[in-house]
Amino acid sequence: MLNTVRAHAETTTPDATNADWEARRKAATPRGVGVLEGFYAARALNSELWDIEGNRYIDFAGGIAVLNTGHCHPRVVAAVTQQLSQFTHTAYQVIPYTSYVSLAEKINARAPGSHAKKTILVTTGVEAVENAVKIARAATGRSGIIAFDGAFHGRTLLGMALTGKVVPYKVGFGAMPADIFHAPFPNELHDVSVEDALKHLRRLFKSDIDPKRVAAFIYEPVQGEGGFYEAPEAFIRGLREIADEHGILLIADEIQCGFGRTGTFFASERHTIPIDLMTFAKSIAAGLPLSGVVGRAEIMDASEPGGLGGTYAGNPLSVAAAHAVLDIIDEEHLVERANILGGRLQARLKSIQGDVPALAEVRGPGSMVAAEFLNPVTHEPDAAAAKRVQNLALERGLVLLTCGSYGNIIRFLYPLTIQDAVFAEALDILEHAVRHA
Ligand SMILES: Cc1ncc(COP(=O)(O)O)c(C=O)c1O
Repeated sequence: MLNTVRAHAETTTPDATNADWEARRKAATPRGVGVLEGFYAARALNSELWDIEGNRYIDFAGGIAVLNTGHCHPRVVAAVTQQLSQFTHTAYQVIPYTSYVSLAEKINARAPGSHAKKTILVTTGVEAVENAVKIARAATGRSGIIAFDGAFHGRTLLGMALTGKVVPYKVGFGAMPADIFHAPFPNELHDVSVEDALKHLRRLFKSDIDPKRVAAFIYEPVQGEGGFYEAPEAFIRGLREIADEHGILLIADEIQCGFGRTGTFFASERHTIPIDLMTFAKSIAAGLPLSGVVGRAEIMDASEPGGLGGTYAGNPLSVAAAHAVLDIIDEEHLVERANILGGRLQARLKSIQGDVPALAEVRGPGSMVAAEFLNPVTHEPDAAAAKRVQNLALERGLVLLTCGSYGNIIRFLYPLTIQDAVFAEALDILEHAVRHA
């Protein structure tokens, strides 16, 4: 099978091998930038990628949730190429461009809630998170932020402080910024009920911070890096009630779960609970760096002019890509397709669950699907099993990512544009890997 997959290789005669470049990488770049795979990308199209030696891979990592519309979608390529020939940069804060404004209008119209909204565009996911926190602080005049165990919000100083996982994100990086607290995230599989989570949250108000000093709760509607655990509706409702009781804002971080992945355009559409601010990034621009915050107009306007922005924030090339992405999601019905593909994947994994005792749970809305591995006897997280699945799949050309605080979960982040035949091929490889892990 390996040879069959590799036989499809199209890129040939590399100047140097993957092994050569691995040696050069280790000499030239710091080990703190952990790299998962030992092969180097040469080109990619939709869900397929070829390395510099001509080997073909099916990409179920999607650049960590960035490629809901696939690699190099022709419409994205055309939009960016067109923009490239017009202008690449003005600094929006100096000379604005209309495409930024019209993209903000589209995001405002699509974000959940019928209230007036405004959108700021920035560059990376964590920058969106930092801006959401700044906006919440400016709007409330408070500094406290409460995030949740297992959350991932990024790698800057504030991002890592908000992130609810120590190894590897906080190790060796010294004191965290002040006034950030964590409460448990509900997780029935690991015995944390919604009631427990909300009780612990209220306890923070006794032990750590006066609720009148809390600006916002920040949560992922479906945790990404943390393990693809969906926040139960009752939990979000509980957060909203506590928030309303104390004048706290609710920030939904949709950076990983947005743009069709969960089978709705934004994951927060899966309930009707109002949120105040929402961060987005990743799949909005198909690999060009773009992120943002959308929220209630009056909250978004809290900061003084000049307090928000950045030299490259809302770069015109990325904005052009984002306009194309929104059209592709609509015209290729990718939200519906997320449900169809996720349904096929879950059915396949569940059909073999009886034969694979370590495969404890298959879950997730739409195509935000996870397979969690637990030791069948002890019920402890089984990271080794997930790693074996990942390695066996890779041997046959399927790239998978793990996640979860213990690394015992496989998450699936294939392009929603993946062709049926390639998806079926990937499911065969996956089944083989799970059965033989
Ligand atoms: C939910 C969430 N928030 C924030 C981030 C940080 O995004 P970036 O890596 O672009 O800074 C990520 C990245 O994985 C994420 O999944």
